[in-house]
Order: sequence, then C-alpha cells, then structure tokens
Amino acid sequence: MSKILSISGSLRKESLNGKLSHIAVKEAVALGADAEVINLIDYDIPIFNEDLEAIATPEGVLRLKEKMLLADGFIICNPEYNGSISSPMKNLIDWMSRPTPEGKRALQNKKIALLATSPGSLGGLRALPHLRDIFTSVGSFVIPKQAAFGGAYDLLKDGEMTDVKKRKLLQDIIQELIQVIDSLK
Ligand SMILES: Cc1cc2nc3c(=O)[nH]c(=O)nc-3n(C[C@H](O)[C@H](O)[C@H](O)COP(=O)(O)O)c2cc1C
Repeated sequence: MSKILSISGSLRKESLNGKLSHIAVKEAVALGADAEVINLIDYDIPIFNEDLEAIATPEGVLRLKEKMLLADGFIICNPEYNGSISSPMKNLIDWMSRPTPEGKRALQNKKIALLATSPGSLGGLRALPHLRDIFTSVGSFVIPKQAAFGGAYDLLKDGEMTDVKKRKLLQDIIQELIQVIDSLK
C-alpha cells in the first residue's frame, strides 16, 4: 500500500491549502492509499540555519523527518507567495534535504504530486514550476500531472471540492501518484 503524506505550505489556521490537503487525503484513501495530513504548525521547525543544525537538529524537524523517511510520496499543497513557493515550504525542503547521520535523505526518490490553491484565478500556478525544479534538484520524482485551483473560497466550500471536473482532475493526479509509487517500488 502506498504511504503518502499530504503537506500544506501554509501555517494559517483557516488555510485554503490546508483544506485542499485534507480533501486530497480523503481522495487518496478512497483510491486505496495509506494517506495522512501533515500540518506544519504541529512541528517546531525554525528557519533553517546551519549554526542551529551544527548544535542539534530541532526535535520537530527530526520528528517530521522520521515520518517523511517512511513515506513513499508526498502531496504538496503550496500557497503561492509573490509568484513562487511559500516560505514555510522552502524552509521544510531545506531542513529535509539534509541527510541523517546514517546518510538517509527524506526527499530522495520520493514521488511527489504538486497542487496549489488560492482565491485568485490562477490558483497559484506560477509557483508550480519553481516547486518542480526544487524537488527535482533534491532527488525527488515529481509526477507530470499537477493542478492549481483558482477561486478557492467557492471551490473548497465546506471542506469539499465542489466542482465535479476539478474533483476528477484531483482524483486523476492522486491516481497517477499512486501508480508511479507502485510501479517504481
Ligand atoms: C505574502 C503574500 C503573497 C501572496 N502572493 C500571491 C500570489 O503571488 N499569487 C496568488 O494567487 N496569491 C497570492 N497571495 C494570496 C494567497 O493566495 C492567499 O492569501 C491564500 O489564502 C494563501 O494560502 P492559504 O489560504 O493556504 O494560507 C499572497 C499572499 C501573501 C500573504
């Protein structure tokens, strides 16, 4: 069974990307995956600093790294900030790109589906190529299908994906992620 973590790059309580992350997990579970929402606010992840790392990797980083090492893949729900990746997401990638003392890397060979949502019409689309580049450069495999969902306040009302075609697109992306994980195991 594919083990998938869905991670939103927003720390906001009412985050639209957090809602999308929950919806994506529901779809992943319906498609047969073992999927879980990760809320970054539940982990103490300071801004990356090599001096801090030299003293000791923070406990929250270690806790999440353990989970990420055990996962086959990730659904990334990124809030677009100024046309790019959100700062919490970039910070997460920087911490997780660092090897464990045994040399294990939490992002290497992980299969990744990229999603974004925002109130605007483009839905965070401009950040997706940036995310793809960064994840590829740390050794992840980013699946071809991706989506940015605009008009998020209406689209994600009551924690559901209200548009049938967009829901199908989301299901197709998650299905592809599961297929890639299974075929490369
Ligand atoms: C610093 C900042 C920059 C933003 N830049 C963009 C942007 O480039 N494109 C966009 O669609 N929305 C942008 N927004 C609006 C966010 O999409 C919106 O606040 C969204 O709700 C954030 O995601 P969240 O709900 O998951 O926290 C920006 C918001 C902030 C705070």
